[in-house]
Amino acid sequence: MFFIFRIYFILILIRYLFITLSENFITYYLEIMYKKCEGIIMTSMIEILKNEHKNVKNLLNEAVENKDTSKYPQIQKELRIHLEGEETLLYPKTRDQATDLTLEAYEEHDLVKKELNDLDNLNIENEYWMPKMKVVKDLVEHHVKEEEDEYFPKTEELLGSDQLDHLGQKYADWKDDVM
Ligand SMILES: [Fe+2]
Ligand SMILES: [Fe+2]
Repeated sequence: MFFIFRIYFILILIRYLFITLSENFITYYLEIMYKKCEGIIMTSMIEILKNEHKNVKNLLNEAVENKDTSKYPQIQKELRIHLEGEETLLYPKTRDQATDLTLEAYEEHDLVKKELNDLDNLNIENEYWMPKMKVVKDLVEHHVKEEEDEYFPKTEELLGSDQLDHLGQKYADWKDDVM
């Protein structure tokens, strides 16, 4: 009887050890896989910015073509976040090595922000409202073209993909906080 009890106890012990160990192994490997996936799905800040360019250009096009003022709150919010994100996280990293391109970008941002501030303070019925919106559209299109044709390729060359992935994560976290 004592022998049977001992065998039974050993079997329970083995079962308990097996479950605990296999759980630990599964958790351990799941964590490794999660970390690998996290590394793979990190997106370069430049890719995020390019998507935002596309989105805001579409919104501006629709607003101007249809003379639709209702999209302005969304346009100004998305544009301001985009401009601030670039000025805070990206431009300081390139200022010393791509000085002319970076300073020109800051200047163009100032022009867009000036027009946005004017629009914020202008009655939507004012005859200048839509012409000003058209100026914002033209400024943004010009600025986006310069960024994508000249500034981004130079930035990729200077910062490399690891740093741009890291900045992409930082930008995404910052956007979560401010939106
Ligand atoms: Fe910009
Ligand atoms: Fe941009």
